[in-house]
Amino acid sequence: MKEKIGEIKKLALELIEKAENSKELENLEIKFLGRKGELTRILRSLKDLAIEERREIGPLAQKLKKDIEEAISNKIQNTKYKIQNTRHRIDITKPGKKIAGGHIHPLNKIEKEIHDIFLSMNFSVVEGLEVETDYYNFDALNIPKDHPARDAWDTFWLKEVKCDMRQGNRGQKNMSHSTCRSLLRTHTSPMQIHYMETHQPPFQIIVPGRTFRYEATDASHETTFGQVEGLMVGEDVSLANFKFIIEKFLTKLFGEDVEFDFRPNYYPFVEPGVDVYMKWQNKELEVAGAGMVHPEVFRAVGYDPYKTQGFAFGFGLNRLAMIKYKIPDIRLFNSGDLRFIKQF
Ligand code: FA5
Repeated sequence: MKEKIGEIKKLALELIEKAENSKELENLEIKFLGRKGELTRILRSLKDLAIEERREIGPLAQKLKKDIEEAISNKIQNTKYKIQNTRHRIDITKPGKKIAGGHIHPLNKIEKEIHDIFLSMNFSVVEGLEVETDYYNFDALNIPKDHPARDAWDTFWLKEVKCDMRQGNRGQKNMSHSTCRSLLRTHTSPMQIHYMETHQPPFQIIVPGRTFRYEATDASHETTFGQVEGLMVGEDVSLANFKFIIEKFLTKLFGEDVEFDFRPNYYPFVEPGVDVYMKWQNKELEVAGAGMVHPEVFRAVGYDPYKTQGFAFGFGLNRLAMIKYKIPDIRLFNSGDLRFIKQF
C-alpha cells in the first residue's frame, strides 16, 4: 500500500506538471481525487486495514491528497497568469494602429485663409442669414420688382412671411408690404444693406456665407455655393482703393505671379460695375462681381450719397478654391465623396 501511494504521487505530480490547460487539470483531479479516483479508493479502504497499518498509511494518503490538491491549484494559478500575461502583453515592436483623422473641407480651408488675409488688411468679418426677404436680396439693392436683372439670380422662393417680422429698419420705410416674400439668398449682397442699416461709415467688412440659386449645374455652376462679400465705405473711397485691395487679396491668396483681369459688367447696385476673371483649366472663369456702391443703395439705407463713397465685391468661394486646389468640377464640393475630402 505504501508503494502504491508512492507510485500515485509520482504519476499524479508528473501529469499535473505536464498539463497544459484547465480542462486537463480538471480531468486529473477526477482521475485521482474523484469519487472513483485512485487515491479516493485507497482512502476508502483504510477502514479495512489493521490498526497499525492504518496509522501508518492513513497520514500518508491524507498528505498525498493535500499535495495533489495543492499542485493542481498552483498549476491553475500559473496557467491563468500565463493566459493573462499573453493576452495583455504589449509588443512594442508591432507597428502602431493608424489613427483615422478628419479632414478640413477645402471650402473651410480657403475660407479661413481668406478671413486671415482680410483681417490683416483691417477688415472685420460679419455673418448673415441664409433666409432673406426679397427686400434685402433685391429691392434695397436697386433691383425693384419686375426689373429684368432679377432674372440673373434664379431664386428659390419660400413661403410668404409677415413683413414686419422679417424686415429691417430704415430701408423698410419706402417699401410696400407686397414686396415681402422670403427666399434663400441668391448672393451675400443683402448683408450690405443689413450692415449699413445698423452702422455708420467709415468701415470695411467681409461677409462669407452660403448662397443658393435655382439653376442647372455643370462643372463651374452649383445650386449651393459660397460667396465672400466685401464692402468698404467712407467719405472718399475710390475705384483705385478697390483695385489695390483686390490685387493685394489675390496676391496673398495665390502668390505674386497670380494672373487676373477686370472686365466691365452691369449690376444694378454698383456703378461702374466690373467682373474679376482668372484662368481655370485653360478657360476664363469669372471669380467675382464688384463695383462702386450705387447712390440708390446708399439712399435705401439712409446715407447721404453725396457724402458717401464705397466699393463692394462678391467673390465665388468655390471658384477660388477650384483654381487654388486645381479642382476640375465644382460638384465635387458637395458630393460627400471622402476620396475627394481626404486629399485636403
Ligand atoms: C453677384 O452675386 C453679386 N452679388 C456680386 C457683386 C457684389 C457685384 C458686390 C457687385 C458688388 P454674380 O452672380 O456674378 O454676382 O456672382 C458672383 C460670383 O459668385 C461669380 O463671379 C462666381 O464666382 C460665383 N457664382 C455665381 N454663380 C455661381 C454658381 N451657380 N455656382 C458657383 N459659383 C457661382
